Order: sequence, then C-alpha cells, then structure tokens
Amino acid sequence: MSLERLLASIPEGSDDAALARQIQPDRVPQHVAIIMDGNGRWAEQRRLPRVEGHRAGIQSVREVVETSARLGLGVLTLYAFSIENWKRPAAEVSVLMTLLRRYLRSELDTLIEHGIRFNVIGREGGLPAEVLDELREAEARTAGHRGLQFNIALNYGGRAEIGDAVKAALEARLAPESIDEEQFSRLRYTAGQPDPDLLIRTSGEMRVSNFLLWQIAYAEIYVTGTLWPDFRRRHLLEAILAYQQRDRRYGGIAPAVAGTTLCT
Ligand code: IPE
Ligand code: IPE
Ligand code: MG
Repeated sequence: MSLERLLASIPEGSDDAALARQIQPDRVPQHVAIIMDGNGRWAEQRRLPRVEGHRAGIQSVREVVETSARLGLGVLTLYAFSIENWKRPAAEVSVLMTLLRRYLRSELDTLIEHGIRFNVIGREGGLPAEVLDELREAEARTAGHRGLQFNIALNYGGRAEIGDAVKAALEARLAPESIDEEQFSRLRYTAGQPDPDLLIRTSGEMRVSNFLLWQIAYAEIYVTGTLWPDFRRRHLLEAILAYQQRDRRYGGIAPAVAGTTLCT
C-alpha cells in the first residue's frame, strides 16, 4: 500500500501532510469502525439546537470517507443510528433521517468517483420508505465498486445482529455441530468483511453502545475527546498512528517476549 493518493490531496508542508508521512503504509488497519458521538454536545456548547450538531457532523463524515478511500482502507463502518436511538424525540429522529437522505443525494457522485462501495448494515424494518429507497439506490449504483467498502450502520444494534444471525441459522436448519465461529460469521450483516482492527469513539465516552459486538472482539479501541462535528482528517490520521503503536497479541504474548526464554 502507498500513501501517494492521500498525500496528493493534502497541501504540501501542512500539519496533515506531516502526520500522513508518519503512517506506516504496510500497517494501515484493514477495517476502521467509528462511533460518531457528541453532535448534541457540540451544538449545546454553541447554544444551538441539537440538530445543528447533526448537520455539522456531515462535513466530518465527508472528510473521513474521502480520507479513508485515499488511504486505501478496505472497510470503513460509521455508526449513524442505533436501534436505541428511536428513544429520542421524533423531531430529532426525523432530522437525522432527512440529513442522511441529503448526504446520500449530494455525495453519491463523489462515492462513485472514488470507487467506493456503499452498504447499509442494520434492520430495514422501521426505516422510512423514502430513506430505504435512497439507501437501496446508493447500494445498487456502487455495487460493482472495488475501492473502499463504506458501511453505514443504521437502525443497527449489535445484539439484534447476533439475534438475527441465530434466527437465520435456525431458518436454514443448520446442524448444531456445523455452527462454529466461521459459520456464524457468515450469518452476520458484515459477512465476508474483515472485522474492525480499529474502533474509534469520539466525545470521550468509554463505551461501545451496542456497536458491532461480535466483530470488535479484538479491535484496538481509541477514544478521543474530540466531538464528532470537530473530527477532521487530522484526527483520523492521529487515531491510525496511535493504532500503529499498539501491540496486538490476540491472547498470545508479544513477539519480542516470545523469542526469549520464559522459564529456566
Ligand atoms: C451522535 O451524537 C449522533 C447520533 C447518535 C445519531 P449525539 O446526538 O449522541 O450527541 P451527544 O452524545 O448527545 O452529544
Ligand atoms: C451511539 O451513540 C450511537 C451512534 C453513534 C449512532 P449514543 O449517543 O446513542 O450512545 P449512548 O446513548 O451515549 O450510549
Ligand atoms: Mg451521544
């Protein structure tokens, strides 16, 4: 992997270019998942209605999607609306749905231009028909693309996903002895995709809020105090650099330790 495409889009000599140059191209995460949080607080800090935070967050989405595509990430998953978010006032939910439709309409050409494949994960039931139509169109028009896989988690719940996978296994009458982790993985909304290597949460909250529960088993977690509407390319690069410093052990021991004698 090379950083050329990314560097070509960043002004020479800028702080972002300096950050990008520090990235080790051979250790870029395959899948980055982001819990985009803090829109409401961003608006409250400015004495604006909460929905203004959601509106401002669209620019962060644009920047993160484009940077991810230029960086050559395999998969980017953005948590846009959880099953639990239906608990919010109807007016806020309605604005979120409208913003999503508007984003898709205005960005579809850019997604196509970058060869991005758009995909929705979550439950269809409950989503307004006009939102579903827009989502399906974006999926259909980008289906053949081989660049970044951009998942948007919408009406998504990690427990619901696991429950749906169990139902699918029962409906397919799979033999209990055939259901191992690999088989189960094929029943998830993200079947065929690598699990997230890096999970980013903005706004400082130290929780996973029902996001990709199965898939994040060994994800590296990065929490930043930055509120989502303030999250820019720089923040994504900083998260990736922090990830590249991590020592992923998967229950084993660090390679440097593995080479030494532990017992005498
Ligand atoms: C994230 O921002 C957006 C969604 C969950 C849809 P929030 O709206 O949760 O913002 P805070 O957490 O209240 O600041
Ligand atoms: C998580 O944020 C959901 C999304 C980002 C879509 P929330 O703001 O809903 O999470 P909690 O309620 O703080 O756990
Ligand atoms: Mg929140």
